[in-house]
Amino acid sequence: MSQILLLHGPNLNLLGEREPGIYGDLSLAGIESAAKTKAESLAMTLRCLQSNSEGALVDAIHAARHDCQGVVINAGAYTHTSVALHDALRGTRLPFIEVHLSNVYAREAFRHKSYLSAIAIGVICGFGPQGYDFALEALAKHLQS
Ligand code: DQA
Repeated sequence: MSQILLLHGPNLNLLGEREPGIYGDLSLAGIESAAKTKAESLAMTLRCLQSNSEGALVDAIHAARHDCQGVVINAGAYTHTSVALHDALRGTRLPFIEVHLSNVYAREAFRHKSYLSAIAIGVICGFGPQGYDFALEALAKHLQS
C-alpha cells in the first residue's frame, strides 16, 4: 500500500474563512478528511501536514523520502517564491502533483510563476477541493505504471 504525503503551505490553515469567494467554504480539516477517504478508495494511505513555515515544509518533504511514495502539494504562496521547496522535491526525487484550489492563471501575474511545476508530474488548478481527488487518482496511476 502506498503512503502519500498531502502537504499544505502558508495560510491554507485559514481555509473556510479566508476569501471564500476564491477558495470556497471548506476547511482544511474538511479537505484532508475527504482526501483521506479518496486515498483509501485507491488503496493508499495519506499523511497530512500544513505549515506556514517554509523550513517545516522542507523538513516534511525530507522525512517523506523514508516512508512515502509520493506527494500532493498545495504550497500556497511558496509556490511562487520557493527555490527551497523546489530543491527539496527535486532532491528527494519523490513524484509529486502540484494542486491549487483557484485557477492561478486567471489571477494576478505574480501567481503565474511556479517554482514547482517544471519538476512536477503535473499541475491541477481551478477545480477547488475536487482537485485533490484528481491529484490522488493521477498519483495512483503514476505509481502503478
Ligand atoms: C493557492 C494559490 C496561491 O497563489 C495562493 O498564494 C494560495 C492558495 C490555491 O490553492 O489556489 O495560498 O495555492
